[in-house]
Amino acid sequence: MPVTPVLTSRWKIPGIWSLETYERHDGYRSVRTALNTSPDDLIKMVKDSGLRGRGGAGFPTGMKWSFIPQGDGKPHYLVINADEGEPGTCKDAPLMMTDPHSLIEGIIVASYAVRANRAFVYLRGELIHAARRLRNATAEAYRAGYLGKDILGSGFDLDLVIHSGAGAYICGEETALLDSLEGRRGQPRLRPPFPATHGLYNSPTVVNNVETIASVPFIVNHGVEWFRSLGTEKSPGPKIYSLSGHVTRPGQYEAPMGTTLRELLDMAGGMRGGRQLKAWTPGGSSTPMLTADHLDVPLDFDSVMAAGSLLGTAALMIMDDTVDIVPVVRRLTQFYAHESCGKCTPCREGTTWLLQILTRMEHGQGDPSDVNTLTDACDNIFGRAFCALADGAVSPIVSGIKHFPEEFAAASTPRPATAAPGGASGNG
Ligand code: NAI
Repeated sequence: MPVTPVLTSRWKIPGIWSLETYERHDGYRSVRTALNTSPDDLIKMVKDSGLRGRGGAGFPTGMKWSFIPQGDGKPHYLVINADEGEPGTCKDAPLMMTDPHSLIEGIIVASYAVRANRAFVYLRGELIHAARRLRNATAEAYRAGYLGKDILGSGFDLDLVIHSGAGAYICGEETALLDSLEGRRGQPRLRPPFPATHGLYNSPTVVNNVETIASVPFIVNHGVEWFRSLGTEKSPGPKIYSLSGHVTRPGQYEAPMGTTLRELLDMAGGMRGGRQLKAWTPGGSSTPMLTADHLDVPLDFDSVMAAGSLLGTAALMIMDDTVDIVPVVRRLTQFYAHESCGKCTPCREGTTWLLQILTRMEHGQGDPSDVNTLTDACDNIFGRAFCALADGAVSPIVSGIKHFPEEFAAASTPRPATAAPGGASGNG
């Protein structure tokens, strides 16, 4: 299996988070190249590379950059979405923690390309250690002349602000993130208009994920053809896959886009205790669950979609045959109900309602009509909410019912109350 560590290639180098060590390992080379290239050529390079957003949606990065209006007289901003909150997703945090300069390097190149003189990293509030590393690295980059005025004598100025959020899942939604960054309560804005034209402070803004931006220096250094030689035609490049749950060695596994779960399990030592795979998510809890029938689906954006799910953040939560699906789905629904920002009715009321039904099913008090009610409610929530949170919330339910109908049928049949110790009756 061809594994090409790229994004993670420096993670094992002791002290790579310091500028001195980073510079000894090719660090900031792409900045010198980029500053001697025209912004338009850089955008073309990223377009030609086929890089797609690693935050979950897979939107073409170069195309997003090209939406930024030029000569509009407005300030442009680059905002890095480091609010990694999708359950199972844990790739951006180690990247920033271990190799913070690689993100800063990508930020400088991307800011120059989209003609932004101010960039922000919006960090998930809980990532205290990563924030510290990133702030230290930013200070080092300022001192060395990679940030600030007239970077490396090029005439290009860039200020970088590291901003920690307060730990709300919704603030990973790009427009809620922008509201939060502006000092308001983080709730999604209506799109369109997209941030590309009306973003931070109503100005053209590129919002990109950490892993996306950290990929850019490698494209500048090694070229478009090299990048395209990894992965698939429509999803080129390397990818960090996060494996969690019932695997022998959970963790981050970097591999070319299009690697299968079977191959990733080989890298991770297989299923824990040699048990059977029952269910898994390809890209965090917001992406429909798959089963052991999907072990050979190439994990790229299009193949996963063809298999009935989404690649999302490539967070593979692995469940073995000891797992009951209804309690898993109930727990995930609880997460979405808790994190719903409350702005729109289908999400606010819908997730709460779904949670009530699933809770009583889990506790043996289901009703034979519950599966139909769940399905109907999910149908009426999907696509009708303000942002993607509600679509994500129905994914575990709809896919759970699809792949494990017998478990939902059993849970919607009321269980008789069992005798409690001492003779009192209870609800099991
Ligand atoms: P989206 O597909 O609506 O947009 C993706 C990106 O493309 C955005 O930056 C958007 O501004 C841009 N875009 C799309 N159409 C555009 C147009 N016509 N003009 C200009 N820009 C355009 O997806 P969305 O709602 O932003 O994100 C959903 C994804 O987020 C899901 O796939 C999910 O996997 C992921 N997600 C990731 C989390 C994490 O922790 N990384 C947490 C929750 C969800």
